[in-house]
Amino acid sequence: MASSTLEIASVLAPSQDQVRVQLDGARLVTIRPILPSDLDALRTFFAALSRATLRLRFHSPVNDLSEQVLREFTMVDHRAQVAFVAEIDESAAGHLPALIAEARFVRNADSDCAEFALVVADNWRRIGLGTMLTRILAQRARFAGVRRLCGDVLDDNKAMRGFAHSLGARLSRAVGCGQTLRLSLEV
Ligand SMILES: CC(C)(COP(=O)(O)OP(=O)(O)OC[C@H]1O[C@@H](n2cnc3c(N)ncnc32)[C@H](O)[C@@H]1OP(=O)(O)O)[C@@H](O)C(=O)NCCC(=O)NCCS
Repeated sequence: MASSTLEIASVLAPSQDQVRVQLDGARLVTIRPILPSDLDALRTFFAALSRATLRLRFHSPVNDLSEQVLREFTMVDHRAQVAFVAEIDESAAGHLPALIAEARFVRNADSDCAEFALVVADNWRRIGLGTMLTRILAQRARFAGVRRLCGDVLDDNKAMRGFAHSLGARLSRAVGCGQTLRLSLEV
């Protein structure tokens, strides 16, 4: 990740909270911190994800996220968490902004690693959104004194395994965790 520092800084200065990007010729996308006012948009975003994607994100079969979980996702405790969303540019979409990805980390109180998770909408993959969000989180993590973004990845999650490889993250199998790999990304 260190080699991408300059690249990230060029799109998102530490003092700035949002960036507008055009990824692979796709529509303009804004990447910004999640807000409490995103509750409805976040509910719509998760409701539109396939069952398979929800399973990969939450590691168990999920139909609907509860209102409590959705609220917790939008009410970020900035002392310990960082959460960003990507939304389609309002004017380009022709209606209210729609979320197409979300990514977050939560600091572990007693270690220098933070728990990291992300999901990109099914039809917005492979255009660099996941990479962009992860780079932004990594940048924020560095500023917060976090050394590694860590997360559990289901063994059959081929996309995340490829994604981890592309980021230069380490994937290891903990003893006794047959279904899950542990991702560790130095920031
Ligand atoms: C994993 C995930 C976040 C990747 O997001 P993305 O926006 O598609 O990723 P990017 O476009 O930035 O991909 C960067 C690189 O990762 C690798 N990669 C991404 N998806 C891949 C796939 N399906 N198979 C193999 N490699 C893949 C590729 O090397 C890719 O570069 P390339 O497109 O130039 O070949 C997305 O597939 C996703 O949301 N999956 C479901 C949720 C999930 O599994 N979350 C992780 C658990 S918390």
